[in-house]
Order: sequence, then structure tokens, then C-alpha cells
Amino acid sequence: MCGIVGYVGPRPVQPLLIGGLRRLEYRGYDSAGMAILEEVGVEITRKAGRVADLESELEGRISNGTTGIGHTRWATHGAPNTTNAHPHADCAGSVAVVHNGIIENWADLKADLIEAGHLFRSETDTEVVAHLIEDRADLPLDEAVREAMRLAEGALALAVVRNDEPELIVGARRGSPLVIGLGDGENFLASDIPAFLEYTRRMAVLDDDRIVAVRPGGITISDLSGTIVEPVTREIEWDLDSAEKGGFPDFMLKEIFEQPKAIRDTLRGRLDSDGLVRLLELELDVEIARSFDKVFVVACGTSFHAAMMAKYAIERWTRLPVEIDIASEFRYRDPILDGNTLVVGISQSGETLDTLAAVRYARAQGAKLIAVTNVVDSAMAREADAVLYTRAGPEIGVAATKTFTTQLIAMQLLALWLAHARGSLDDAVIQNAVKAMFALPDQVEEVLRQSDGIREMSEQWTDRRDFFFLGRSAAFPVAMEGALKLKEIAYLRAEGYPAGEMKHGPIALIEEGVVVIGVATNSHVKGKMLSNMQEMRARSGTILLVLTEGDTEGEAVADEVIFVPWAPELLSPVTAVVPLQLLAYWLAKQRGLDVDKPRNLAKTVTVE
Ligand code: G6P
Repeated sequence: MCGIVGYVGPRPVQPLLIGGLRRLEYRGYDSAGMAILEEVGVEITRKAGRVADLESELEGRISNGTTGIGHTRWATHGAPNTTNAHPHADCAGSVAVVHNGIIENWADLKADLIEAGHLFRSETDTEVVAHLIEDRADLPLDEAVREAMRLAEGALALAVVRNDEPELIVGARRGSPLVIGLGDGENFLASDIPAFLEYTRRMAVLDDDRIVAVRPGGITISDLSGTIVEPVTREIEWDLDSAEKGGFPDFMLKEIFEQPKAIRDTLRGRLDSDGLVRLLELELDVEIARSFDKVFVVACGTSFHAAMMAKYAIERWTRLPVEIDIASEFRYRDPILDGNTLVVGISQSGETLDTLAAVRYARAQGAKLIAVTNVVDSAMAREADAVLYTRAGPEIGVAATKTFTTQLIAMQLLALWLAHARGSLDDAVIQNAVKAMFALPDQVEEVLRQSDGIREMSEQWTDRRDFFFLGRSAAFPVAMEGALKLKEIAYLRAEGYPAGEMKHGPIALIEEGVVVIGVATNSHVKGKMLSNMQEMRARSGTILLVLTEGDTEGEAVADEVIFVPWAPELLSPVTAVVPLQLLAYWLAKQRGLDVDKPRNLAKTVTVE
């Protein structure tokens, strides 16, 4: 996620870009920058940090320019410093480009451009676009962008300006959002509506594989072959607050609904042509991967539940023994680590002190560290021998949702990569698992369509105070995560428990009024799971089961059911957790609670 804003018209563009960037800061805040077309040509200003830092950088410099583009960055390629901040320029400094998304074949394109004599200044994938356009200086800017779009693979939204066309911004879109704000004698281009809502309520959406030429007097949309496409315009009815949340009442619900896209982004570019996992950025030698004889996964909170699931995947696929540890406990139990130990730290923020302390301890004992994090160049990423980014985009809601499902995916990718490197799985098995992963975004989409149904179901439980979440095998971490969500945002007592263990004590708590939620999706122990749920039913618990579509046997055990699409056992946590996120969300809303900022909690905890 990054934020793009652009403006052409009669007004001084600099304050307008700053205002737009502030409204887009929720999309990323690693760095900010802008390019303004001045009489002398394109002037670029960039700064690491927030939009406020860019403003300080600009202090005293008042621009008269009326055409410009701005960007706020959520780093995906390259550290979040000023050098990698957008806009990026070509060698001559006559083209400026801002980009949101991931260009999958950037490394190949960059190698060709360097070979042709281009000089690169940043580590970003974006910069290749500036140089591709420079090579097409003889073409009108929209034509040059079209050719660049044909060459670039992956998700991209672009805004480009060039010296010789001072009243023109060219935008392009594939996968990442871009909307056009239509004014009177002025027009806007942005990743999201809030960037221009103050000035106009009329907008046009740019579809995938479309190019738009934005001029003060109007816009021209065309496709990749150059055919003109009629814009579809509409009036925006949202106010600013709901526009920032994409029309959702809060960030948490927005982020729950962003999961299909987030999962797509996590998978993007991580497959080779044989359908096997390719983790380019991991930069971990295959020989080192073969030398491991034990794995530890350490994490806190929701990230720990991703660690629990990872144990099943890594053990099953690599046959390496895996231990999982709550990070705050890890170093105080004197774990046995050496140079052949792999430690994986999972942390959305990459800044959680408990996790950082745990991985530092492991490295000091000689273990190798892989960081799985959402924040590029975070403290944990910097500590690690190798990093795998989850690419979920910024998560504003305190309760983790999209960062959890993308952690699950990232850990599965890592497990499959390790299995391939160690030769512990046939290629065909890996290819099948990967194929199933690529079906997940659509499957999650299907589950999200049940949100209203889950809200209605939860309405009957507004006076219930006791909830159990049960699962077995890979569904156990899902149960734990479902319970944590309910505690965090609805402040309800919720226990996550392995279903088979209930009979050894906690079953004494089951009575009328207790809601027992069982995750009984596809699993080799599903039969046992259903028997355990029968035991809960026999004690008068209210039973809700999350089941695979068409599971009539499971349906017979339950008072309420939520169906999710079939997925292989180790992937089913991804679809199964989504209804539990929604259930916690709707129960919290019925209690009138602020789901984005739950009491007593912080998004990132930097104390021990
Ligand atoms: C805090 C948050 C949790 C999160 C945990 C770990 O407690 O409230 O939502 O799961 O930290 O955070 P991390 O950034 O390390 O994943």
C-alpha cells in the first residue's frame, strides 16, 4: 500500500498535494515526496518519515507550479529512507514517477536498463518505470506509459509527469487502486477519494489496464492497445471520515475486507515458472537451509497463533522438529540453540520488544534468524539473516486481522520453500499446495459475503458472557485466534482450547448459556472433533460450527453453522478464521465498543 495524489489546474499545487498526502497517510508513512512542474522543469522533494517531515523539508520554499504528483510510501522494495522515497526520476531528471504496488519483473527490467546504460539511484522497483519512459522520450507521455505498462508485470498504479508536457499527468492502473477526481477546469488523480474530496464530489474509476491522461480541461482514458474508453463517472456520497475508511464504519472492518487483496499481494511474485515457491528476497543459501536440524518459532499475541499453525506446516512438510514459544517466555527457559537451529520471529510490527529480545537472544547463541514481518526495515527485519515480508499494507485497527492471514500464508510459503530446499517433498505436492493457496483470495471473498448473516446470528448472543473456541490440529490455532479477537475487542470471556482436552477439566464449565464455537473444517481429525462437539452439546452448550461447505454430518451437531469453501487441511485456517473475526467484530459493535481502539491495548508493545 502506498498513497498517490496528483493535480492539474489553476491552483498552486504544493499545498494541495500536502493536504492530499495527509489524507492518504493511512496507506503508509515510511516516506513522502512530491514532483512539481516548475518553469525550470520537474522539481522533486522527498523525505523519509511522515508527511509532516516532508512539510518541514519544504519550509520556506513556495512553489508557483500548478501541476504535480505526490506520494506517501509503505515500503515493499528497499529500505524506507529518503533515497527510496518517491517520486523517482530518470537519468536526465525530466520524468518523475510515483507508484503503488509491486512490479514483479523489476529485477529483469532493471538489468536490461543498466545494460543499456541507465543509472539507478534507488533500490526500488518503481525506478525502472522512470527509465523505461526515458527510453521513449520521442513518444507522447501517455504512449510511453502505455509501453511501460505492457512491459511491467504485477500490480501497479502509476502517476507520471514529464518536463515537456507541463499540464499533463498520466496515470495507469493494474491491480492497485486509482481514482480520478473531476473538477471544473482542474482534475485530480489519487489512490483514494479522501485525497480530493474537499474539492470535488465527482469522480471516475480507472479500471485495470487503463491509462488516463489528466489535463485541466478534461481526461482521456484508453486501454493497453490505445483504444479510447468512455469514462464512467459518479457522485461521491460519503463524508470525509467514511471515505478514509473506504466507506466502512471502522478500520477493523475495512481491514477484514481487505484480506483477499492482502493475500494476493503476499503471494505475488513468489512463484517460479515451475509452480514452485520462489522467495527471492529471502537471500538464504540453500546449503544453510539444508543444515538446519531444528526450528523455533517465536512470537506474541496474534502472531503467536500464526506460529502455532506454522509448526504443523513445517513439521509435516520438512520433517524438521519445530518448537513454538511465546516470545516473553523464550529466553527465560534456557532453550537449546546452536548454529544449526533456525529461529523464525513472527511480528506484524517487527518492533514488539518481547519478540525482539527473544530473537536477539537466539542469534547470540549462534542460531540463524528469519524475520516474518509486515514492516519493511523494522527492528526485527534489521536483526535478521533473512526477511520475508507479509505485504498486508498498514494495519490501523489494533486487533490484527489481515496481518494474521498473511502471516499464515507467508509461513506456508516458507515451509514449502524449506521443504523444496531440503528435498523433503515432491515437486507435485508443492505445486498442489501452491495451487490451493492461489484459490484462497476468492475463497475468503466468498466467506466475507456472509458478514451480514454472521451479524444477524450474533444478535441472539448479545447477553452471553462465556464463549469457548475449540479446534484440533491446524484448527486449534484458529480457535485460539477467534477467542483472542473476542477478548480484545468485545471484552468477553473467551477460552481457546484444544477440543480433545476439554474432557480433562474445562468441560465442567459447559452449561446452558455458554456458546461453544468449534472449528471443524477439513481435517484428518474432523470425526474426533465432531465427537468432542457432541460432548459439548450434551452439556447444553450452544453450538456454532465452522464447517466446510456441504458438511451435513457436522451440521447435524450444531445449533448454528457457518460454511467456508473447501481447502487443504493446512490452508483451511485462512478461510476458517475470517468468520471468527467477523463474529468478534459484530459482537463488539452490538456492545457499542470502539473496535479500532480497544481499552488497555496498544498496536505495538515496546515494553517487556
Ligand atoms: C500487541 C497487539 C496484538 C499483536 C501483538 C504482537 O499486543 O495488540 O494485536 O498481536 O502485539 O504484535 P506484533 O507486531 O509483534 O505482531
